[in-house]
Amino acid sequence: LARARTAIERHARLVPDFPEPGVAFKDLTPVLAAADGLAAVTEALADVCAGADLIAGIDARGFLLGGAIAHRLGIGVVAVRKGGKLPPPVVGVDYDLEYGSARLEVPASGIEFAGRRVAVVDDVLATGGTLCASVELLMRMGASVRDVAVVMELEGFPGRTRVEAAGGGSLRVHNLCDG
Ligand code: PRP
Repeated sequence: LARARTAIERHARLVPDFPEPGVAFKDLTPVLAAADGLAAVTEALADVCAGADLIAGIDARGFLLGGAIAHRLGIGVVAVRKGGKLPPPVVGVDYDLEYGSARLEVPASGIEFAGRRVAVVDDVLATGGTLCASVELLMRMGASVRDVAVVMELEGFPGRTRVEAAGGGSLRVHNLCDG
């Protein structure tokens, strides 16, 4: 965890006054582009996903992390995709955004979710809408979701509480840093 935090501090790009004046936005893109950053972040996230037998990576940056984590743990990965990207049959969930709505989908056949211990990974937790929808979808498929792991949790949002509630009390949210 210490190595991951050091790498994030070293490589994250600070964008001043984004998305609003006075806020310094931490762009994680350069962290994953650096060999030591990707290694440290993957190792730290894999540690907290260690009990899983399947990783679910959220569209789109969760894909980068999910594959690396799953490979490190010797397990498989599934992409939770934005609506309309996967071939049928799919199972999906609609969820609200600040303006409008969005949809996430997983394959309805070919992957056994029932009884699996699935850990969900993404880059950033903000309002929690994306991760809540993902957890609900995976649980509806019969998976057990005990761990949700993100690189950065944005302060001032209720995301963590919402995601833990979506998991029914036994779910833990892990983050490597705050933003
Ligand atoms: C970002 C981020 C998370 C989500 C977090 O993705 O990568 O998936 O927002 O926000 P929330 O907690 O408020 O739901 P975005 O929707 O920008 O999609 P992208 O990864 O395809 O760019």
